[in-house]
Amino acid sequence: MRIESPRVLAALSDLGVERLPGASLAELTSLGIGGTTDVLRVRAHRRVPALVRLLRSERIEHRFLGGGTNVLIADGELPWVVLQLVSPQPDIQIEGESVWVDAAADLGRTVTTCARQNLGGMEGLIGVPGSVGGALRMNAGAYGTEIGRFVREVEVYRAASGENETLRGGQISFDYRHTSFAPEDIMLRARLELPERPYDEILAGIRVCNEKRRASQPLNQKSAGCIFKNPPGGSAGRMIDGLGLKGFRVGGAMVSDRHANFFVNADHATCADMLGLIAEVRARVRAAHGCELEEEVILWNA
Ligand code: EPU
Repeated sequence: MRIESPRVLAALSDLGVERLPGASLAELTSLGIGGTTDVLRVRAHRRVPALVRLLRSERIEHRFLGGGTNVLIADGELPWVVLQLVSPQPDIQIEGESVWVDAAADLGRTVTTCARQNLGGMEGLIGVPGSVGGALRMNAGAYGTEIGRFVREVEVYRAASGENETLRGGQISFDYRHTSFAPEDIMLRARLELPERPYDEILAGIRVCNEKRRASQPLNQKSAGCIFKNPPGGSAGRMIDGLGLKGFRVGGAMVSDRHANFFVNADHATCADMLGLIAEVRARVRAAHGCELEEEVILWNA
């Protein structure tokens, strides 16, 4: 979608919003898949309510993109614009065991910055690609750690009230790859509380997780991490692997030959290819195990 209204274009610049006209979302996502639309880069959190009001008043549909590492986006010209927060600097501020971190900050850099101040606990999250905001929304986790455990406060833009609000940790529930945030809540900033630990110990934990990840996941290929959630008590990767589907392709989309729950963009895959692969693998797992796999990746295809 291209914004053409002179009124909106003028208001965007008043709000300090940078517009990337006709940007390719394939370039903003780790899967390398996605069509084109205007991308609006928002610098000041306090401007988010006014920006959303403006877009609503002009009936311009919009979606917020985080780090683009866990989303599968439709092909072609998209019927909505994309909003992306740009971190103010510094985007991580540490006071004692409290860490204020901006939603647009990189999750891995947050882990290492805190480690340097002797704050640990998040070692398992080191190789999870993406932004802190995306990690909060999904309750990102790996190697026994989930970010939700450390969250004490979150500032969000709430579509329901049209305002920025601060939620206390106890008001939010964090479950396996799921949180109680409303779908339209936009993460702005969070306060985490991390346990003090010696830097060397944290670093050793980070190295172990990096090693495990390198040994089992296709880190040098375009993917969105695991495509399906694990069913209760089971493993999607093991089931897909057990059906001999590593290397199975639909168009340019392929089941990774390293980890069967990673679907990679092996050769100019389209969203349609990836959706075709998801449907086919799900059908085969259903037929073999009677188990309905649910996507872990977020679909922006409607
Ligand atoms: N396995 C296979 N074949 C495969 C892949 C896995 O047999 O192709 C087996 C493994 O040998 C192991 C079991 O399945 O016995 C589980 O595999 P793994 O340890 O790789 O963990 P996972 O359950 O597949 C989860 C998360 C990952 C996270 C890892 C490490 C989900 C959907 N996936 O994977 O998160 O990195 O644990 O903690 O919860 C993501 O969220 O995108 C993601 C990659």
